[in-house]
Amino acid sequence: MDKTVWINGEFVPWSKANIHLLSHGFSRASAVFEVFGIHKSPGGIVAFRMGEHLKRLSRTCELLGMELRYSSAQIVNAVKETVRANCLQRGLVKILAYWSEEAIINLVLDTKLDLAVFAIPNNPGLGLDINRPISACLSKWRKIHPETIPVEAKACANYLNGYLIRKDANSRGFDVGLAVGTDGFVAEGSIESVFIVKNGILKTPPSGRILFSISRLSILQVAKSIGIPTSEEALKPDDLYTADEIFTSHTGSKVLPVIRFEDRNLYAPGPITLRLMQSMNNILNFSDDHFKDWFQPL
Ligand SMILES: Cc1ncc(COP(=O)(O)O)c(C=O)c1O
Repeated sequence: MDKTVWINGEFVPWSKANIHLLSHGFSRASAVFEVFGIHKSPGGIVAFRMGEHLKRLSRTCELLGMELRYSSAQIVNAVKETVRANCLQRGLVKILAYWSEEAIINLVLDTKLDLAVFAIPNNPGLGLDINRPISACLSKWRKIHPETIPVEAKACANYLNGYLIRKDANSRGFDVGLAVGTDGFVAEGSIESVFIVKNGILKTPPSGRILFSISRLSILQVAKSIGIPTSEEALKPDDLYTADEIFTSHTGSKVLPVIRFEDRNLYAPGPITLRLMQSMNNILNFSDDHFKDWFQPL
């Protein structure tokens, strides 16, 4: 079955989900997006924290002075229709909002953004549900400064920074790179938040210089619920070098233990990372219903 994509209220075949090369979204890299998990619960197919993701989409548009063509309620319906039309079970939904109009000179458009919803079935390349330990390094690239582009916006353009960070890491033989901001404090990875454990406290950089990650929010909530002390605080690179445990987190994999940071080997998963990993896995495989309001039926 060819996958089908919801675009501005119509379904089009996956292979026809195209826009012009000179569109503002493509040639000016102005598109914005969201990605969230779809899971198969005992009661049916559900979305992970879709409300939070749609709030972040609205916030992204607000930060960038863009306007969505559809309300959150309409987008929820579009997601439901797309998941059902593609018989998606475990996988991801990606929402892209973009100006499809050609924009050769014109930078500021006053039209509303087009919207596409993709249902992406799980496949090994997505790395979903994998907690395999990874290696991480400090990137030579800095995280974009929030006064140059709002880093809390999930904007495609911001991912050129993410691309450079990941490419640098890969070229040095590491799985992921962690970027420091121009203020000298640790920010995040290309597509992941970073956590450390030091003396039993779970620490992560504060919001303001990073993407408002829904996985990060969830980890902090789970940590509090199982009695792990947490702190959102400015971390220096030295905190990474001296951490007892390090892990990264994103939609695809909520807890990815770091087994090597630069030339340091870490025990991974360390005890606190393991507790969080198990708790998140139990929530995501529906054997723990403490956070059942995180899942919206589709
Ligand atoms: C820069 C960045 N940080 C963190 C994350 C994790 O965010 P989320 O938990 O919402 O997937 C992402 C996800 O794409 C990201 O791109």
